[in-house]
Amino acid sequence: MSTFEQLVFSGVQPTGNLHLGNYLGAIRRWVALQEDYNCIYCVVDQHAITQAMSVWGGPAELMRNTREVTAAFLASGIDPKKHIVFNQSRVRQHAELAWVFNCIARMGWLNRMTQFKDKAGKDRENASVGLFTYPNLMAADILAYRATHVPVGEDQKQHLELTRDIAQKFNTDFSGRIAELGLGVETQSGDETIASFFPLTEPVIGGPAARVMSLRDGTKKMSKSDPSDLSRINLIDDADTISKKIRKAKTDAEPLPSDVEGLKDRPEADNLVGIYAALIDANKEKVIGDFGGQQFSVFKPALADLAVERLAPIAAEMRRISADASYVDAVLKDGGERAALLAEKTLRNVRDIIGFLQD
Ligand code: TYM
Repeated sequence: MSTFEQLVFSGVQPTGNLHLGNYLGAIRRWVALQEDYNCIYCVVDQHAITQAMSVWGGPAELMRNTREVTAAFLASGIDPKKHIVFNQSRVRQHAELAWVFNCIARMGWLNRMTQFKDKAGKDRENASVGLFTYPNLMAADILAYRATHVPVGEDQKQHLELTRDIAQKFNTDFSGRIAELGLGVETQSGDETIASFFPLTEPVIGGPAARVMSLRDGTKKMSKSDPSDLSRINLIDDADTISKKIRKAKTDAEPLPSDVEGLKDRPEADNLVGIYAALIDANKEKVIGDFGGQQFSVFKPALADLAVERLAPIAAEMRRISADASYVDAVLKDGGERAALLAEKTLRNVRDIIGFLQD
């Protein structure tokens, strides 16, 4: 029996306003993982349409945002030749596997998803069915490649737990058939070694920016959908806008504490220190070591300069790449073709395991 090949998969929705949370919580970490793993990075356009059209903006906006998110991946340092970059809808196997998972996941599991509750709001009867089954498509994205590692921000943790539950139930429900076809891969389950078809994917979550908060309210996540543009730094913001938003960021009146313990119960201070730490690739201790006891009138300009230094070149590169839509489209086409070959290999096995007749 073989073991699972280590593979990284992750995705971002093309719903506009790509922000510092997406960058520090996800994309920046994807760049680092390219050194040690084969990686597949996806613009999840089918997930985007689970919300109201007023949110994802309609066809022209979806095309624009899909290209812009792709440009952000490339501008941040993702290598589309060594790895794979594509948009989800090109690879039909994701939707096919999501259907299978619709039949594996239980209503009770999906009913517990907090992101559905947040996004559906009070009017649940009017939410799309796609928004409810969203996590099944996410599990399909990952498991179509039998990916072993998924780097995401903290907010995706529950979806990744569901992905593991789906994988486990599929492995168990079909264990006899998986063994009969010789498709079992050796996995460790406690002290036991068992044969599985799907891996139990590891979430890769952590670091000082796993949950970047709003600049206007340190208790709320930085989000694409916040009506206040001052609440977030968008990846396409220019230097002046970045500086202005950091200068205007909400803070309390105290100086920075002399140790990280002192950041407890100070959500705005904690958030800005976390952002600084992530931008210099260090931990919060290092930042407090350098700035502990200082006023925000000292720390904020330092953070603004650092953010501009790190983000402005990415914004410029994004604009340069976005201007060449045919280049971006060629990257997605090439990535899609390579992804489809891999996903089809998995889906052929899945069809056999379930008992769907095929040639
Ligand atoms: P999305 O598009 O909402 O966000 C993309 C990535 O950014 C992270 N993120 C944050 N990290 C830190 N602080 C924040 N304030 C913040 N806001 C967003 C998210 O955790 C995510 O990693 N369901 C996913 C997309 C998806 C996916 C997948 C991810 C679809 N299929 C398969 C991984 C694997 C989503 O909506 O991300």
